[in-house]
Amino acid sequence: MMTRLSVQLIVSTVIVPLVFGQNLLEIYKAMMNDQAGRAKTPPINIEFFGESLCPDTTRYFRNHIMPVWNALHASTLINVTYHPFGLAECRRNDGVIRCTCQHGPAECQLNMLQACVISALEFPQLYMPIVNCMQGKSSFSSAIDDCIVNFRPRPDLDENFMTRCAQSQLGAKLMMQHGYRQREVASDLDWVPWILVNGRRSQAAENQLKTIVCGFSEPSRYEYCKTTEGLIF
Ligand SMILES: *[C@@H]1O[C@H](CO)[C@@H](O)[C@H](O)[C@H]1NC(C)=O
Repeated sequence: MMTRLSVQLIVSTVIVPLVFGQNLLEIYKAMMNDQAGRAKTPPINIEFFGESLCPDTTRYFRNHIMPVWNALHASTLINVTYHPFGLAECRRNDGVIRCTCQHGPAECQLNMLQACVISALEFPQLYMPIVNCMQGKSSFSSAIDDCIVNFRPRPDLDENFMTRCAQSQLGAKLMMQHGYRQREVASDLDWVPWILVNGRRSQAAENQLKTIVCGFSEPSRYEYCKTTEGLIF
């Protein structure tokens, strides 16, 4: 039987070198650690849970998370983590994981694809634009074509490997891991998008993310925080 440890092992020994070339990832990790080391204050941790075919999650990506993320991710102000799971369920029977999703099998496929991309690229700085692109796609093949083949956000992200990952037990395992995390930190989730700000659920963050994030910073520090851009009421 697979344990979580061996799942992580598969991810780090199989996916990462295939997608990246180990060196590039090591360089990137060193860069991120350096950046974190230089930050005077810890970042605002925004961890959120959603579903690939949920219109509310899609709106959240487009109207709230991405504008804030685009404006501020290069600073050390925010640390965004996404989990494609929500009101899904994964069970392991005779060693085989089967998942069911609120919006049916197509949603599970797309959640798994997002989970594969998150696992392969590891850092939100790398995976967010791709996961956002895949969010709400009407078909698996358009997610692959529009968000990897034609988008080419990273030349080293391979569409065939991502397809195999998403359509295999590896994708199911990765999605299940997001479910484990959800059970751990958002066990009472009954709605998506479900947003944790510094570990606590914030309903206000569902429609006032910018206000909340900017409220943590000195008012004049970030250009983005001085404007009303991205405020949606
Ligand atoms: C970023 O968020 C993730 C998930 O919540 C957490 O594991 C990680 O420690 C955070 N990084 C920092 C620098 O706080």
